[in-house]
Amino acid sequence: MKTVGFVGWRGMVGSVLLQRMCEENDFALIEPLFFSTSNVGGAAPPFAKNEIKLKDAYELQALKQCDIIITCQGGDYTAEIFPKLRAAGWDGYWIDAASSLRMKEDAVIILDPVNADVIQDALGRGIKNYIGGNCTVSLMLMALGGLFHAGLIEWVSAMTYQAASGAGAQNMRELLQQMGVLYGAANQSQADPAAAILDIDRSVLAAMNSEQMPVAQFGAPLAGSLLPWIDQDLGQGVSREEWKGAAETNKILGKPSLGMVGSIPVDGICVRIGAMRCHAQAMTIKLTQDVPLAEIENILAAANDWVQVVPNERAASLSQLTPAAVTGKLSVPVGRLRKPAMGAQYLCAFTVGDQLLWGAAEPLRRMLRILLA
Ligand code: HSE
Repeated sequence: MKTVGFVGWRGMVGSVLLQRMCEENDFALIEPLFFSTSNVGGAAPPFAKNEIKLKDAYELQALKQCDIIITCQGGDYTAEIFPKLRAAGWDGYWIDAASSLRMKEDAVIILDPVNADVIQDALGRGIKNYIGGNCTVSLMLMALGGLFHAGLIEWVSAMTYQAASGAGAQNMRELLQQMGVLYGAANQSQADPAAAILDIDRSVLAAMNSEQMPVAQFGAPLAGSLLPWIDQDLGQGVSREEWKGAAETNKILGKPSLGMVGSIPVDGICVRIGAMRCHAQAMTIKLTQDVPLAEIENILAAANDWVQVVPNERAASLSQLTPAAVTGKLSVPVGRLRKPAMGAQYLCAFTVGDQLLWGAAEPLRRMLRILLA
């Protein structure tokens, strides 16, 4: 039985990972070792078998006992420990949710319903580093995988609507606190049915821009507003989240880097909205040829077990294609499918996905399953 080390299992992505592993009975197949950066010697979670105490996540000797390490601890931990562990001769499999190693030559971005061929090829070449992708990119590929595989996509413009969870657990809390401040400002007048909506709106706006509004995490009000910039400024008007669109999509699909022959341009504006944990994307796609809509729907639906084509109708879109409908589910609905005014070689689509499931935890546990097979 393989020994599998878990680091960062207590955080948000780590907790979802353990929950999914529990649901799929993954622990029956492994000997787990639980590591900690803050509570070494404390009690391991109930999934532990023989090692019931937490080991030190910074102790190379302890980490070296693992055949496989899965970390959701974050990029700083990876940057510090991974090179030391490899330098110390550890040649186990490293499965990581953080982005630090994603674009390295000797790492593969894992999303097996889309790139099982790339993963199998890498395993055959002895690659040992398997890294989860950016949530937005992974969810876009889960939705559009069929069209990518059929060679029908020339380029994609993806305009995103990203949830607070993508920024972290503290950000989810801050969003709720911001909502609370706005509700408080509106509440008094709202109770009076005669209150003028513009008066209520004025109170809400004043609260939104006041010192009462907690903005330590997001840096600006998100509730009742939106934030048209995610992650670092890479210069030339591009955010790091936007850069990942093309960089990671092409790497996941095993294609050359953007700008090289055979690569696929993916670009758009990434926006944070006040959803809790589902990212959504409105996409305009240039197809390589004019394919009838019904055929496109069949290709999309057949690509994997989780994509779900939603009829492009009002009722279905409002009931099946929203964060409220999709949160906590593994299904990745794609809808609003139509040929836009630009012409028959273009396609509009809208997709929603839980960014903690396919966007973060699920590819990690499935990579573990691939290694155990
Ligand atoms: N970078 C993403 C976001 C989440 O901020 O929403 C992780 O991929």
